[in-house]
Amino acid sequence: MMIKKAWWKEAVGYQIYPRSFLDTNGDGIGDLNGIRAKLDYLKDLGIGFIWITPVYESPNVDNGYDISDYQRILSTFGTMEEFDLLLEEAHELGIKVIMDLVVNHTSSQHPWFLESRSSRKDDYRDYYIWADGQLDGPPNDWTSIFGGSAWEYDEATNQYYFHAFAKEQPDLNWENPRVKRDVFTMINWWLDKGVDGFRVDAISHIKKAPLETVTADDPFAPFKNVTGIENHLEELRDVFKQRDILTVGEANGVGANEAQQWVGTEAGYFNMLFEFDHISLWNKTEQEGLDVIQFKQALTAWQQALAHGKGWNALYMENHDIPRSVSSFGSEETVFWRASAKALALSFLLLQGTPFIYQGQEIGMTNMPFQSIDEIDAVDTRNFYYDMLQTGVAPEKALEIIRQTARDNSRTPMQWTAEEFAGFSKRQPWLKINPNKQSINVLDEQADPHSILNFYKEIIRLRRENEALIYGDYTLYLPEHPQLFVYGRRLGEERFVVLINLSKEFASADLPENVHIEDWELVLSNLTGRKIQQHTLFAPFEARVYHFRNE
Ligand code: NOJ
Repeated sequence: MMIKKAWWKEAVGYQIYPRSFLDTNGDGIGDLNGIRAKLDYLKDLGIGFIWITPVYESPNVDNGYDISDYQRILSTFGTMEEFDLLLEEAHELGIKVIMDLVVNHTSSQHPWFLESRSSRKDDYRDYYIWADGQLDGPPNDWTSIFGGSAWEYDEATNQYYFHAFAKEQPDLNWENPRVKRDVFTMINWWLDKGVDGFRVDAISHIKKAPLETVTADDPFAPFKNVTGIENHLEELRDVFKQRDILTVGEANGVGANEAQQWVGTEAGYFNMLFEFDHISLWNKTEQEGLDVIQFKQALTAWQQALAHGKGWNALYMENHDIPRSVSSFGSEETVFWRASAKALALSFLLLQGTPFIYQGQEIGMTNMPFQSIDEIDAVDTRNFYYDMLQTGVAPEKALEIIRQTARDNSRTPMQWTAEEFAGFSKRQPWLKINPNKQSINVLDEQADPHSILNFYKEIIRLRRENEALIYGDYTLYLPEHPQLFVYGRRLGEERFVVLINLSKEFASADLPENVHIEDWELVLSNLTGRKIQQHTLFAPFEARVYHFRNE
């Protein structure tokens, strides 16, 4: 099947966590004007759209993912007028703007919830999920993704309400048609304003199993991709499909076997999904480096499930919920840092799908050496830390685990320069700046032709200039190789092959018969100043792209 072209298939996305992007008013917190100030930087990088994480009115228990007014901008970030200017200026540069749509839950300060909790008879009572307790305890044993019971007792009406995340994030009741009506009206309000689409938060959680459901192996199963969710998603799709927008669902619990149902070209609910298979977000245990074979399998399963026009992928290695990829999957060691960040870039940017770069990833930002739990802001990490202490884990051990897994690793302020506050702010920001800003920052990387930043630029340009890298087929080579990730892209006579050593050791391989790279043109390599000696031997984290055209 021919793949239908679309702007959102061709563009490269960039995720902005506004709180940590650029502070222009000196309060230590990034803002909308900070994004406006860096649009040229993004344009120069080759970015086609930005996804801005929530900037709506919010008490910030979960940094904006607890919304108290969907149609207002949080004053810390700016005003609606500034938002409108941002939208206009981005559009003038040819950059589209995607908003975060958080409709699994609201803040407990949202007027709907304040009404809902006021009385059992309130008109808004059924906007949320309320239930009676059992034997002096919560309605059932379901646990929240952020730790503890998923139920919170509310004395005023002597019932419990359900929250998949923090207790200040009560879940909306999608079984109530009025909830859907209000949510859809709000979506259309933003679309009428001219935004170009949505990243749809936690959407696989909107359907809950019957309350009698007992949890088994997966404690979140009763509210993760539960049968019946399709009815809600079809209605949501019908709102989206009226427009030429980008929609990407965050879909914890959706496997490659369901990819077509969720994002199939004809009847899918979204254009693409953030799948969790190659990166497990809620895994709170220590990371053990990268299992290259499993990593390739996970990515390939999604590539194949949506191949030949069946659907489309969202590609990512980082976001604001997971530690920095170079620290988890590459290496922070000076000798490997640069090459590994570039190798990781090639392991997602040229797959079939729409790539999303997370702020700072393009300069190889790393995890933060947190010294104490007091330096951590994220609500889930704090809960998890104190839970560990309660179960007897020693504080140093708990901190060590946190250091590797905390979401705040990727939320430290963007490192624009080597200055005291990294060119992010004029004062100590809301979250500490990584001390390595001296050696990892945009300004220095702009000046260095071999920097990670310039490598990202080159990959993006290569993708833009070659349709085979956008619409071409994907083939995995050497699936069982424990170090190398080798994949091909092909559109008609145009062929590319990407070869990446994802390990710290030298790697060699007999390349498949149809990959005669000796005769091909090397178009990109992360080895600087060193000629490739032997085509089948790869230095640690070496990565190359070859191009071949049948004349
Ligand atoms: C996923 C978001 O990415 C994360 O930051 C947030 O905490 C949860 N959804 C809850 O909204």
